[in-house]
Amino acid sequence: MTFRTLDHVQLAAKRAMVRVDFNVPMHDGKVTDDTRLRAALPTIDLLRRAGAETILISHFDRPKGKCVPSMSLRPVAACLAKLLGAPVAFANDCVGPVAKAAVDAMGTGDVLLLENLRFHPGEEANDAAFAKELAENVDLYVNDAFSAAHRAHASTVGLAHLLPAYAGEDMRRELEALQAALDHPAHPVLGVVGGSKVSTKLDLLRNLILKLDRLAIGGGMANTFLFAQGWSVGASRCEKELAEAARDIMLFAEKHACELLLPTDVVVAEQAEPASPTRVVERGQVSDTECIFDVGPGTVRRVLAAIDEANTLIWNGPLGVFEVPPFDKATLAVARHAAERTKAGKLVAVAGGGDTEAALNAAGVASDFTFVSTAGGAFLEWMEGKVLPGVAALEGQAQIDGR
Ligand code: 3PG
Repeated sequence: MTFRTLDHVQLAAKRAMVRVDFNVPMHDGKVTDDTRLRAALPTIDLLRRAGAETILISHFDRPKGKCVPSMSLRPVAACLAKLLGAPVAFANDCVGPVAKAAVDAMGTGDVLLLENLRFHPGEEANDAAFAKELAENVDLYVNDAFSAAHRAHASTVGLAHLLPAYAGEDMRRELEALQAALDHPAHPVLGVVGGSKVSTKLDLLRNLILKLDRLAIGGGMANTFLFAQGWSVGASRCEKELAEAARDIMLFAEKHACELLLPTDVVVAEQAEPASPTRVVERGQVSDTECIFDVGPGTVRRVLAAIDEANTLIWNGPLGVFEVPPFDKATLAVARHAAERTKAGKLVAVAGGGDTEAALNAAGVASDFTFVSTAGGAFLEWMEGKVLPGVAALEGQAQIDGR
């Protein structure tokens, strides 16, 4: 591990600026999913116990450098205060006199949330002057926002070069779990990748193939592979123009001894609606008016058997249209089986990205997985093998400091 954590840091009476990711689902000014707030609690607790002053910074949504009142972080402060069991102050601006006055008013153990960083264009531009303004009121910087680490912004990169920089507890958990799953995993390693489009996952598939022993592909993206193999996919969503790319991926997998598990049977219907009549058919038996909405029971049995043989599982994306029963069956069955194996101590199961967390929650097993990432885009970029600027900035610090 080449980044510094908060272990052994003298934190008493220090002002710690913590980059969190409070880009949470919100409806009518209420937080509807507090997972990311809960993920930030260990770092906040640690700082409070150590007698530091905690200044939280985050983006919310994409206001594009302007103040958009509906994108204020204010409602998040109240929700966080409830989870924390302590007051969370809020300042209407993240820089300038308003932020300074709010920080100056803090005492030992206090928590303050500053307004949306992206109300200022300097945030996304990684503007040095903006980063300096943020840094002005504080002593040290903690990045606890793995899910924003794929953005090279002032709060994720700029600040790490201006202040002593540390990985927060959630950042540490994410990096440790992801490194354990992909960099030093116990083999055999199985990947399960679903979701609707191959086009967004070409790099990801190639990188995974280099690391995995087996890769099961489901969801809408599997249709493109079936089509590329010459099977009819009826009226299913399918990126026919990517058939060549899909064939390349199959060859690449063969070359690198990664066994691909593609659907051998599928669940079809004319509409993805709960009352639609459905059929289970062998691949290629889809009529012109039908669409594939889930992988079939035979395919599920093969994936479950692959889970039994695996020591490590890495999962991104649902296998079918899991939001609409009965097209959730494969996703739920695979999620529950992976959870059972994990609980029995037979599997390290790591999941993340896009709808994956929602799918595991629907199966009621998210807490049984070894680790479920709170990240969307950052998880995908990490699976693609990319260097995440927010993580690299922390690592750079460690090298500068010789730790
Ligand atoms: C996310 O929700 O994935 C992160 O908060 C990043 O948000 P962004 O895609 O708007 O940068």
